[in-house]
Amino acid sequence: MRKKIVAGNWKMNLDYAEGISLFSEIVNMVRDEKKGDQLAIICAPFIHLNSLSKLGGEIVKIGAQNAHQNDSGAYTGEISAKMIKSVGCEYVIIGHSERRQYFAESDELLAQKTVKVLENNLVPIFCIGETLAERNDNTYFEVLKSQLEKGVFGLSETDFSKIVIAYEPVWAIGTGLTASSEQAQEVHAFIRKEIAAKYGEAVAEEVTILYGGSCNPKNAAELFAQNDIDGGLIGGASLKSRDFVDIVKAFNS
Ligand code: 13P
Repeated sequence: MRKKIVAGNWKMNLDYAEGISLFSEIVNMVRDEKKGDQLAIICAPFIHLNSLSKLGGEIVKIGAQNAHQNDSGAYTGEISAKMIKSVGCEYVIIGHSERRQYFAESDELLAQKTVKVLENNLVPIFCIGETLAERNDNTYFEVLKSQLEKGVFGLSETDFSKIVIAYEPVWAIGTGLTASSEQAQEVHAFIRKEIAAKYGEAVAEEVTILYGGSCNPKNAAELFAQNDIDGGLIGGASLKSRDFVDIVKAFNS
């Protein structure tokens, strides 16, 4: 049985006090309300991670949003996977479209980061997704296949089996335009098929594939009911405790 996950990505939001306060609310609500065995994760800005993991890391897991590809060195302003691990984090988002777009992170760099994250016994949440132009000109399957091939298909089967994939169509991120459940399922099934072709059916069946892009309490249950959608990566709605926890609970509805 593959893991069901709802992960919040706070992006560059919330100062320290706001982050502590929101996380505490989420932990209390998840503790009281969550049913089933789905996993809740919050991927917070670096400055929050140490405190959050001590506040409720058993109930809501902690993730970072990026990591450097080296362990240490003269890389002013950067944070390594080793450092992230040392404060009790378990997950790291790699390859978010905002990193690809605004920080020019290439497929090759993201492959290196993924390896480094795994080396430090953290789980990469590896993001792929097409732009609106790529969706409209029907090249999205090729784009997604190439992102998988260059980003994660260099991993050994053992390492690949540890990662989580997130499909985030760029046109659906922060726009209020969600992929329909049919559109999302079509892509998730495609991703699983590509994984099966590379690593075999057994590995493909076990990989958790999350959907991200304007996921909210209203559309989550329908998305999560699709065969190949194993949860969500949530941006805006993870900044409101009620909305985030309602999305976590969408697995039970
Ligand atoms: P929104 O949920 O705000 O569209 O963001 C999705 C996202 O980018 C999560 O990583």
